[in-house]
Amino acid sequence: MKATVAILLLETAFLALGQAAYGSSSVVNTKHNLSVSGPGELKSTVETRVCIFCHTPHHANEDKRLEVNPLWSREASSVTYDPYFSETMQATTKPGQPTGTSRLCLSCHDGSIALGMLKGNYQLPGITSRITPDRSSYIGSDLRNDHPVSFPYDSMLSTKDLELNAPSTLPPEIRLERNTNFVQCTTCHNPHKDPSPPNSKFLVLPNYKNGTQLCIACHNKSGWSANVHSTADATKLDGCEICHKPHGANGVNYAPLLGNRYEYRTQHQYDAGGYSLCLRCHAEADILDPLHPEKTKFPKHYSHVVTQGYPCIACHPSHGVTINDAAHAHLVEFSSIFVTSGTYDSVTKSCNVTCHPTTHLTNPKYY
Ligand code: HEC
Ligand code: HEC
Ligand code: HEC
Ligand code: HEC
Ligand code: HEC
Ligand code: HEC
Ligand code: HEC
Repeated sequence: MKATVAILLLETAFLALGQAAYGSSSVVNTKHNLSVSGPGELKSTVETRVCIFCHTPHHANEDKRLEVNPLWSREASSVTYDPYFSETMQATTKPGQPTGTSRLCLSCHDGSIALGMLKGNYQLPGITSRITPDRSSYIGSDLRNDHPVSFPYDSMLSTKDLELNAPSTLPPEIRLERNTNFVQCTTCHNPHKDPSPPNSKFLVLPNYKNGTQLCIACHNKSGWSANVHSTADATKLDGCEICHKPHGANGVNYAPLLGNRYEYRTQHQYDAGGYSLCLRCHAEADILDPLHPEKTKFPKHYSHVVTQGYPCIACHPSHGVTINDAAHAHLVEFSSIFVTSGTYDSVTKSCNVTCHPTTHLTNPKYY
C-alpha cells in the first residue's frame, strides 16, 4: 500500500508537475544533471532529458535487489562489495552488502556501469563514460574506507554507544531509511540538491569547509565543543574532517576512517610516518627536535615519543578532554591503555602518573 502511494506521488511529480517544474529548483543545476544542459564534466552531448538517467515513468526496473525503487531506470550493479569493518563499531547488525537507496547511488558511483546505460541494455545517446577510479567521485566496490552504510541506527544503538545522539532527536534534514532506520547514502546526501558547490557535495547539512554540522548531528563526542581543534580558526571549518575522511580514508588503517596514518594502539619504535595525521599540521621539527626541546611547550616530547615510543594518544585524547579548566588545558588527558592512574596540572606544569611498563620513580614530575 505504502509503496503504491510512493509510486503515485512520483508519477505525479513526473507527469502532473512535469520534469522541469521539479527539476528547475534542484537537479538541473547540479552535477547530477547528466543531460546536455548539465554543469559538470560528465554528461551527454545530445540527450536533453534530465531525470531519465535515474528515473523513468514507464517500464521501471523491477529487479528485486532494488528494495527501494523510485521508478528506477538503471540496472542494479552485480559486483560484490567489501563492507566497512571495525572492531569498535557497536551496532549489532554490522554493515553487509549495501541495500536500499545506497544500491541506487552505487549503480553509478561504484564505476561498474556506464552512466548512460539503462535497464535492458538501453544506452542513452552521447554518453558512454563511467565514473573511473581517477575521479574523486569514484567510490568503487571497496567500501572499507567509506562511512558505514546499510545498518540500523536505532535507540538500542544510541543507548549502547554513549557518544551517539538518540535517533529521535536528529534534525529533520537527516533521513534514516523509513521502516528500517538504516543509515544509507541518502542519510547524508540528497541527490536532487547541491546547495553551494563545489564543497557542498549534495550534503543535507554543511560539513566540509563549512563547519562540521553533519557529523555532530549524530555523533556527540564528549569534550569536542571545547576542543581547540573545533574552535581554532585554522581548523574549525573542517572540524572532524581534519582527521577523518568519510570516503577514501587512508589505506593502512581503514577503521576508523582516518585521513592519514596514526599509530595509537601500542608503544612502539618511533617513525614519523606513523604520526603523519598530526605532523601534517604540527611539524616534527617543532615538537620533536632533540637538540632544541624548548621549541615545544612540553620539552619531554622527544624522550617520550621517540626514545620510549609512547604514541601521542598516551597524553592527547582524540576528541577532547572531560575536565575543562586552567589546570587541564592543552588537550592533555592520559589514556588508560598506557597510564594506570595519573593527574596532570598545566598551571604548575606537572604530571603525577603511574605508567606501564615504565613507571616514574619520582612523582610529581615537572617539565
Ligand atoms: C542522479 C540520479 C537522479 C536524478 C538525475 C534524479 N533523481 Fe530523483 N531520486 C534519485 C534517488 C537516488 C531517489 C531515491 C532516494 C531518495 O529518497 O532521495 C530519488 C527519488 C525521487 C523521488 C521520490 C521522492 C523523494 O524525493 O524521495 C522523486 C519524486 C524524484 N526522485 C523526482 C526526480 C525528478 C523529477 C528528477 C528530474 C528533474 C529526478 N528525480 C532526477 C536520484 C535521481
Ligand atoms: C546516473 C548516475 C548517478 C547516480 C545514480 C548517482 N550519481 Fe552522484 N554523481 C554522478 C556523476 C556523473 C557525478 C559527477 C562526477 C564527476 O564529475 O567526477 C556525481 C557526483 C556526485 C557527488 C559529488 C559532487 C561534487 O560536487 O563533486 C556526490 C556527493 C554524489 N554524486 C553523490 C551521490 C549519491 C549519494 C547518490 C545516490 C543518492 C548518487 N550520487 C547517485 C552520477 C550519479
Ligand atoms: C555519514 C555521512 C555520509 C554517508 C553515509 C555517505 N557520505 Fe558521501 N560524503 C560525505 C561527506 C561529509 C562528503 C564530503 C567529503 C569532503 O569533501 O571532504 C561526502 C562526499 C561524497 C562524494 C564526493 C567525493 C569527492 O571528493 O568529490 C561522493 C561521490 C559520495 N560522497 C558518495 C556517497 C555514496 C555513494 C554513499 C553511499 C555508499 C555515501 N556517499 C555515503 C558523507 C557521507
Ligand atoms: C546519520 C547519523 C550519522 C552521521 C551524519 C555521521 N555518522 Fe558516523 N556513524 C554513525 C553511526 C550510527 C555509526 C555506527 C556506530 C557504531 O556502530 O558504533 C557511525 C560510525 C562512524 C565511524 C566508525 C566508528 C567505528 O567504531 O569504527 C566513524 C569514524 C564515523 N562514524 C565518523 C563520522 C564522521 C567523520 C562524520 C561526518 C562526516 C559522520 N560520522 C557522520 C552515524 C552518523
Ligand atoms: C585530531 C584528530 C581527530 C579529530 C579532529 C576527530 N577525530 Fe575521531 N578519532 C580520531 C582518532 C585518532 C581515533 C581512533 C582513536 C580513538 O578512538 O581515540 C578516532 C576515533 C573516532 C571514532 C571511532 C571510535 C569512537 O570513539 O567511537 C568515531 C566515531 C570518531 N572518531 C568520530 C569523530 C567525530 C564525529 C569527530 C568530530 C566531532 C572527530 N571524530 C574528530 C581522531 C580525530
Ligand atoms: C607523555 C605525554 C605526551 C605525549 C606522548 C605527547 N605529548 Fe604533546 N604535549 C604533552 C603535554 C603535557 C603538553 C602541554 C605542555 C604545556 O603547555 O603545559 C603537550 C603539548 C603539545 C602541543 C602544543 C604545542 C607545543 O608546541 O607544545 C602539541 C601540538 C602536541 N603536544 C602534539 C603532540 C603530538 C603530535 C604527539 C605525538 C607525536 C605528542 N604531542 C605526544 C604531552 C605529551
Ligand atoms: C589540520 C591541522 C591539524 C591537525 C591534523 C592536527 N592539529 Fe592539533 N592543532 C591544530 C591547530 C590549528 C591548533 C591550535 C593552534 C595551535 O596551538 O597551534 C592545534 C592544537 C593542538 C594542541 C594544543 C592544544 C592547546 O591547547 O595548546 C595539541 C596537543 C594538538 N593540537 C594535538 C594534535 C594531535 C595529537 C593531532 C593528531 C591526532 C593533531 N593535533 C592534529 C591543527 C591541527
